[in-house]
Parts: sequence; C-alpha cells; structure tokens
Amino acid sequence: MLDNIGPSGAKVPGAGRGIVIASPSKVDPDCKKPSESPGRDLLLITKADFYTWTRDAALTLKTLIDEFLLGNKALQPYIEDYVHSQAVLQTVSNPSGTLLPSGAGLGEPKFTANGTRFNGNWGRPQRDGPSLRAIALIQYSNYLISHGKRERVKTEIWPIIANDLSYTGQYWYVERVELVTFIMSDTGDRNSTGFDLWEEVSGSSFFTTQNQYRSLVEGATLAKTLGVSCTGCGQAPQVLCLLQSYWNGKSFTANFITGSNNRGGVDANTILGPIALFDADAPCDSPTLQPCHSRSLANFKVFVDTFRNAALYPINAGISQGKGVALGRYPEDTYYNGNPWYLITLGAAEFLYDAVAGWSKNGYLTIDATSLPFFKEIYPLARVGKFPWYHPSYYVLQHLARAYADTFVAVAQKYTPTNGMLAEQFLKSAPFTPISAANLTWSFASFVSMAQRRDGRFPPSWVPRTGPSKPVVPSACAASSAQGVYAPATAAGAPNVTAPCVSTVRFVLNATTYYGENVYITGDGPTLGNWDLAIAYPLLSSNYTAERPMWWADVPLDLTAGSGATSVKYKYARQQNCGQEWIVEAAERTVQVPACRTDGSAQVMAETNDAFIGQGGTPGSC
Ligand code: NOJ
Ligand code: NOJ
Repeated sequence: MLDNIGPSGAKVPGAGRGIVIASPSKVDPDCKKPSESPGRDLLLITKADFYTWTRDAALTLKTLIDEFLLGNKALQPYIEDYVHSQAVLQTVSNPSGTLLPSGAGLGEPKFTANGTRFNGNWGRPQRDGPSLRAIALIQYSNYLISHGKRERVKTEIWPIIANDLSYTGQYWYVERVELVTFIMSDTGDRNSTGFDLWEEVSGSSFFTTQNQYRSLVEGATLAKTLGVSCTGCGQAPQVLCLLQSYWNGKSFTANFITGSNNRGGVDANTILGPIALFDADAPCDSPTLQPCHSRSLANFKVFVDTFRNAALYPINAGISQGKGVALGRYPEDTYYNGNPWYLITLGAAEFLYDAVAGWSKNGYLTIDATSLPFFKEIYPLARVGKFPWYHPSYYVLQHLARAYADTFVAVAQKYTPTNGMLAEQFLKSAPFTPISAANLTWSFASFVSMAQRRDGRFPPSWVPRTGPSKPVVPSACAASSAQGVYAPATAAGAPNVTAPCVSTVRFVLNATTYYGENVYITGDGPTLGNWDLAIAYPLLSSNYTAERPMWWADVPLDLTAGSGATSVKYKYARQQNCGQEWIVEAAERTVQVPACRTDGSAQVMAETNDAFIGQGGTPGSC
C-alpha cells in the first residue's frame, strides 16, 4: 500500500504528495479488452499515465487510519499528506464539474498521478467517493479531537468534510421511477443518478447509498462536537429509507440501473458495503445493514452460491458447500472476461469475521427464517432461535463461521504468487494466474483490513445508540435533497478558487463508430482543451443505436476568461482504439453560446445538431 502513495512510494515515482495511486501499472488494462457498450470506457491511456481514484484512495486511507488508531503511529505522515492532497483535489475542475458553486466536481472518479484532471471518456459522476473520503477524514478527526486538536480539526479538516457531506446531501437522491432508458434526461438535483463502484452502470447502487448514510450520520456527530452545522446531514433518515429498498425478499438488488442492462442484481457491492460500515457494537438488527444482519447474511449466501457454478467459474469446480470459493464482481461481468478479484474474495472473509464479532459484542446470535439458509450451510442442524453466548449452538456456529471465513482467505492465498503481489484479478480458468492491474492498492488494503478483523482488531464504533442520529427508518421514503454549501478548504492548502462563468451547450453528433472508437470535441477555451487533443472533451455514446449513431454531451463551457464570448469554435475528433492517429475534422465549426452564468446552473441553453465530416475510423489490433 505504502509503495503506491506519493511522493515517496517506491512503485510510483512522480506521484504527488498524498496521492494514492490505484495501481502502479502503466499499461491501461482497458486497451486490451473492449467493454460492453460501443465506445464507452474503451480508451488508450498514454503509457506514462497512472491515476488516483477518490474511492480507492479513501478506502485505503480508512484502513491506514485504522492501523494508525490500532497503534502504528508511523503512519501519521501519510494521513496528513492525504488530508492536504484531498483539499487540493476538491478544487480541481474536471469533466464532472467544479467545486463552486454547486459541488458537482466532487463526483469526479479519478485524477492523474500529479492531481490534474482526467479528460477521458469514463463512467462519471461516481457519488460514493465524497462519502468514503468523509468517512476516512472523520475517523482521523475524531482521533485528533481526543488528543486536544479540536480547533485544528475545525479550521483545517472540517471544511474538506463539509464539502463532501454537502455533496452527499445534495446528490444522494435517485428517483426510481425516472430510471428510464434515456440518460440524456438524467440531469438536475432531483434525479442524481451516478455510476456504481465498478464504474459501469448508472443509477443508484447499494454500496453508494450505504456509505452515503454512514457519512451523514458520522458527519452530524462530528459537527455537533465542533459546534458547527452540517449541511446535508439532515438527509440521513431518507438515505436510510432508500437503503432498505434494495432488499428483494431474498437478497439485495445491488443496483437500480438507468437504461437497459443484463444484470440480475447479484453483486459484490452488497458485501463490500456492509464491511465498509462495520461497527462491532451495532445491534445486528440495525437498519444500517451490518454484516451480522439477517438480510446481509442471506444475501451473502446468494452472492457466494452464484459463483459456485463451475460453468461460470471453473476455478471453483469441486469445492463443496460451506467452503470458500473465488469471488468476482457479479456473474455477468465481462471485464477481462469476468474473473475473481482478490479484494472480493478477501472481503468475503472479512464479512464473516465481522459477523462473528457482531454476535460476540451483542452477546447472542439470532437465526430467523431469512438467515436460516446461511446458517444451515455451515451447520446443517441450525434452527431458528435466539442463541446467547453461553448456548452450545452459539459456540458451534461462531466457530464454524470463523472457519468458513478462513477458507476464503485460503482461496486468495492459494492464487497469490510467491512474491505476494496482489493484482486486481486472477483468472477463473487455468492457469488461474493474476490478471489486470498489478499491485492494486485496494487489494492490499483489503488484506490488511481482513487481517485486522481476523485478529479481533476493530474500527471505532460509529452507529449512535441514542439521540437524534440513532438509525430509525422513516415510515415512508420521501424525495428530498439539501442544497449544499461549498468552499475551498484553504486552511488545509486548497487554492482559493472561485466559481467559473459557465454556459452549457448540448453537443449532438451523428457519427457511426466501431466498437472501441471514441469521439471528442476539441476547440476554444479550457473546457474543450484549447485545441489540445490530449485534453479534448469526451462525448457519450449512451444513446447510440445503429439507426441513430448519436454521440452527445452537455458541455459546461467555462467562459470565465473571455466572459464576453458569444461564439465558440470547435471540431469533432475520433480517437482510435489502439493509439492510431486521431481523425480530426478539417473545418472549424462555430456554435453561438448564450451568456455565461456563475450560479452553477447546468441548464442547457443551446443545442447543436451535427454530423461528422470526414472519414470513419479503422480498428487496430492491440
Ligand atoms: C474500467 C473500470 O474501472 C472497470 O470497472 C470496468 O469494468 C472497465 N473499465 C470496463 O468498462
Ligand atoms: C476498476 C474497479 O472496477 C473500480 O472499482 C476501481 O475504482 C478502479 N478499477 C481503480 O482501481
């Protein structure tokens, strides 16, 4: 983990201070394998580039902060560097938007290794990042406060957290009935869909909702301690309400997806969510959906059983019920043909250690009709009932659950090369070797947190047992959203940015492309990259069909520099799949732009209707 963090990480020379690189691999995995939709996500990244993800970084820091709290004081400089790097990253304008005035830029999933914007076509925004970052920073803030540093937290760290909580409170809400096929209508605060943690599907996602809830609850507690108000934290009960709605009677439907998809709803995000908000002291029936919750346990079994299918995962052939198997993201996964992931296989072990810890702290375990199949798998004699810690069945069950957890660790261990390198995935078929991103930081973090739990070392408790933030599910879920308040966290080192003057234009282009080809706009001004193709603006293929090969984007043109601008020049450019020359239109186009605004409105004020002029692309073989 530490080798992948700048500025001195041995594997990431050139990474900025406090920047957590997701993987030191410099060859983009996506170059090799096309993904599901035409064009989307398939891009060639220059070999010298590697990236930081807000999610991976926050999850890694959460683990480092736990280690620090558990006694490894040498980690503090890494945490301090992270605080600083995040204050700065919050202010970097990016394709999701800017910090001011509306916070939209906080939803950007990734940045370059030195903290500049990443302009490639990507699944954005991703709304789990700000919540995960807030959770990590709150944990550290609580430590500082208990060591007499309340004022420092208030002036330096709270402003970073406050932005992330504002964002969460403003954009958590997803209107299910509006999850329609036309993503173009996916704008505005009332229907804040976002991409899931795997960066593939847009809608609402269990993992995201669950972490959003935790951040708002912990944020409210911290705000109270600091004597400040938390914009957005009041949304917590409604987020909790949404969280309950993923339950389908048998398991959690992991995503409610905008548009057509081939997903059955079984997904590791429902295992990774509960371990991210594990609190050993929370009651097992807490609606936060802890690992020891009946529904979480039932869902665990459904998820794991899905991968017992040897036709899907030959690697698991011959492994009997009650023994750990190799686990991947979801059964329909096609990324690298869909393989087991280390962080998910280890995450399953962590989940079980967490469940055992929950029973132990509560002093009993309950088996109900929902969780009975889970328990029967590890102990065929299991029956419905409440078993206190001194009951023989309790003893047997916690012992067997722990042993079951160990078998998942053994699977990950078996497929770990002798040098200990944990890549992102390992092949589901022979030779079962590591594949995709090498030395994935999150994989290592998942090992460390699993090992902490196995050793009985737990993160601080966060679920309130009393008071206004105690989790209580409202009797009816309501549509709501709180307008956020955003400001650069200057005391932590953020530059004092101001709101840009923006005019949003919808660019619509007809261009027939091949699978893996992407289209960008290059042109005047910082948003279109000032004619530099490396930072051109990506179009989306989300409405692309054979009959209507549409590429489009609502582009918030930053006209701050020339506020009087009334027209903007641009061209469309095709990016090929294997690093061939770009194909750029010959003639410049012009669009008349409406007056720019600083109020953060993303309202589309003009629309183009263009058709690509010039030759089509030719796929390369890379
Ligand atoms: C990269 C994403 O990170 C990964 O989750 C996804 O599967 C691939 N792109 C393909 O879409
Ligand atoms: C792909 C994974 O799907 C996504 O969750 C992760 O954030 C990125 N890779 C970076 O590790």
